[in-house]
Amino acid sequence: MSRPVVFSGIQPTGAIHIGNYFGAIKQWVAGQDDAENIFCLVDMHALTVPQEPEALRGQILETATVLLAAGIDPAKSRLFVQSHVREHGELAWYLSCVASMGQMQRMTQFKEKSESQRGEVRVGLFTYPILMAADILLYRTTQVPVGDDQRQHIELTRDLAQRFNATYGEAFVLPEPAIPKAGARIMGLDDPTKKMSKSAPGSYHAVRVLDSPDVIKKTVMAAQTDSGRDVRADPARPGVTNLLAIYAAATGTTIEAAEAHFADARGYGDVKKELVDILVETLRPLRERYAELSAVPGTVHALLAQGARAVRPTARDTVDTVKRAMGAG
Ligand code: TYM
Repeated sequence: MSRPVVFSGIQPTGAIHIGNYFGAIKQWVAGQDDAENIFCLVDMHALTVPQEPEALRGQILETATVLLAAGIDPAKSRLFVQSHVREHGELAWYLSCVASMGQMQRMTQFKEKSESQRGEVRVGLFTYPILMAADILLYRTTQVPVGDDQRQHIELTRDLAQRFNATYGEAFVLPEPAIPKAGARIMGLDDPTKKMSKSAPGSYHAVRVLDSPDVIKKTVMAAQTDSGRDVRADPARPGVTNLLAIYAAATGTTIEAAEAHFADARGYGDVKKELVDILVETLRPLRERYAELSAVPGTVHALLAQGARAVRPTARDTVDTVKRAMGAG
């Protein structure tokens, strides 16, 4: 049997938070010895909403540095920038000639994201999941470690691959999502009914992985909780449920184990205090390594260039197969 191929991506659109970390990055790092690993900074996806060019360039470098600081090891994994491998855009075009409008209109993230766009909604935001399918299918990916919010996109990827294979012959491998048990959907600390997100405003919304211990403390202690004192996960108590989910993700246990751990807590303050300590200790090595790596940005640029060179032959091969199968060129 050939080794599994793991592919995943992240948008370089803002400070990486503990939702990204526990939902995705922690899994990427942990699985590096068991598969071929490809991780992508999806700058073309970032452009589906307005971006400041200089800021985007800076975020690409920062996000790459955070991933390396988190433990992505260039000896075991390829790390590259999406727009450096032009086959992503190329395959997305061919897949857009396979996808139906009906299929695309069922994508829930487009509905949510387009509502938050004042002014014009870009066509790229609508076709975003097709580009994501191209990212995954280019490398004959078998597993896609992501948070829960990407589930529907991976379903679409499988549907497109299946439709293509049935129409033009076997070109694609069908990928499986790999979604963690704890931490797959971390909610905002200022509003636990909304998913924690890079683009949400407000300094108390998220713990960012590069936050100082002081900021982590302020943010967690200010987290919105519910009335009552019971430390139990319950849909009617989204605040404490979220704190328990973060605790479970950070300590590698389950929500049930987290509930048992806090059975004698005297209220939410106790939970918050312990969570601050755990997050500070979990994120400390990442923050220290980030400081070391950012002192030599040239190294990160070189690694990204090397990553793109390494993955490109497979991407080219897939696009050539697809073109031939469809009768193009
Ligand atoms: P992005 O940049 O929004 O998020 C990167 C990863 O973090 C996960 N995540 C979360 N997990 C738990 N709780 C949260 N609050 C939370 N917020 C984000 C996401 O699920 C994701 O795994 N469309 C993707 C990027 C992408 C991609 C791909 C992913 C483009 N092409 C191909 C996998 C494969 C996105 O916007 O992720």
